[in-house]
Amino acid sequence: FIVSKVWPSHADYDNVIKSANKSAKRLGTYIDLYLLHSPSRVPICKTIKAFEKLVDDGIIRFFGLSNFDVEGIEKAKECVSKYEIVAIQNHYSLLSRGDERKALAYAEKNGMLYMAYTPLENGILSRNEFLSTIGRKYNKSATQVALNWYICRNNLLPIVKASRVEHVEENAGAMGWRLSEEDWRAIDEHFRERSYFLDKMVSTLKSLRPWS
Ligand SMILES: NC(=O)c1ccc[n+]([C@@H]2O[C@H](COP(=O)([O-])OP(=O)(O)OC[C@H]3O[C@@H](n4cnc5c(N)ncnc54)[C@H](OP(=O)(O)O)[C@@H]3O)[C@@H](O)[C@H]2O)c1
Repeated sequence: FIVSKVWPSHADYDNVIKSANKSAKRLGTYIDLYLLHSPSRVPICKTIKAFEKLVDDGIIRFFGLSNFDVEGIEKAKECVSKYEIVAIQNHYSLLSRGDERKALAYAEKNGMLYMAYTPLENGILSRNEFLSTIGRKYNKSATQVALNWYICRNNLLPIVKASRVEHVEENAGAMGWRLSEEDWRAIDEHFRERSYFLDKMVSTLKSLRPWS
């Protein structure tokens, strides 16, 4: 299942068509899911119009958005004429849950797939003691527990980056079993407070940046 994105600086109609066609040619096949990488200065309806044309032409099968808030998704939804926005790809992890009551809840309610990027917080969660302790009950690692926690939610798909073969194999072991409801809730509560403080700290730091 091939997912690709178009950069916001190429979000106008002609460039979306050109970019997707070039990517599909390089790949030698169609793209299953094509996303706008982040909001752009180009009016969103122009990008959506190009996405719909690409579906008609068989270059892409589905389209979606990345780094969009609920307001942005709703605006984009108003532009579709014959297809649906099927997926949203935003930052979400056990340590960064700011999207939980926003885009994630919205996606769940509207039947969209939510793709969580940076789900291991670049490996930080793989070293988490609490997750390791829970994992011992299942003979699973901290990483596998974290990934299983995400996939226990119906519309949530963690997209992990792993360049080492042993990591890919370990991550695949997050599937085929399920955390008990009790353990799922224990993890939920354990990280809820930590995420709240981390999200607050990040937004404070962002607001202090002299260039923002
Ligand atoms: N839409 C967007 O704006 C956006 C932004 C950022 C990222 N993304 C996408 O999200 C995906 C993942 O995000 P990410 O790379 O930022 O973060 P991530 O998946 O949370 O972390 C990747 C790091 O975790 C390590 N790792 C993977 N499996 C592991 C395991 N089993 N044990 C220990 N460490 C492990 C990887 O190591 P190795 O590589 O050494 O295996 C890598 O250093 C990527 O495909 C990226 O393209 C999208």
